[in-house]
Amino acid sequence: MRGNITLIGFMGSGKSTVGRLLAQRLGWRFTDTDHLIEKVVGCSIPTYFAMEGETAFRDKETTILLGVTAGERQVIATGGGAILREENVAALRTSSLVVYLTTRPDVLAQRVARRPGERPLLTAGEEPALTLILRMLAARGPLYQSASHVLVDTSDRAPRAVVEEIVRRYQREDT
Ligand code: S3P
Repeated sequence: MRGNITLIGFMGSGKSTVGRLLAQRLGWRFTDTDHLIEKVVGCSIPTYFAMEGETAFRDKETTILLGVTAGERQVIATGGGAILREENVAALRTSSLVVYLTTRPDVLAQRVARRPGERPLLTAGEEPALTLILRMLAARGPLYQSASHVLVDTSDRAPRAVVEEIVRRYQREDT
């Protein structure tokens, strides 16, 4: 039986929102790796990207991920790029049921627009967010798919409905 549930998916797929509710529902700890990184580096993720660059961020992300996967009874919300390194994926898959939150690109674009400036990879250039999202999804989609044990769509559903589906899938995987 896997001791954790990890949520992966693109920026705006609902990992933090669903993760917090899912942890409450199960009575488990909620671990948000982006928040842990911000605590460790002492500044926001956009500031850290601007000062140190993406590779430094990915190194911190791997250190944090490998650390948290040692725990149990936690819902782990990852950053959207957590699947970019094989060692991250291996640690997540061993320790967790890995759930890929899938979301239509137009919905992702709407959601990320609500918090402008929070996602350095979507605010760097002149291109509209949807164009960037489509390009990044083409590259990352197969990685999310192969890293995950189950897929759950979040496009037009309330977070609590998503939570209930994940609980059902977790229980089914466990039997
Ligand atoms: C990233 C996603 C972000 C954050 C960082 C990089 C990515 O997390 O880790 O800006 O590469 O997709 P969210 O998916 O929680 O926005």
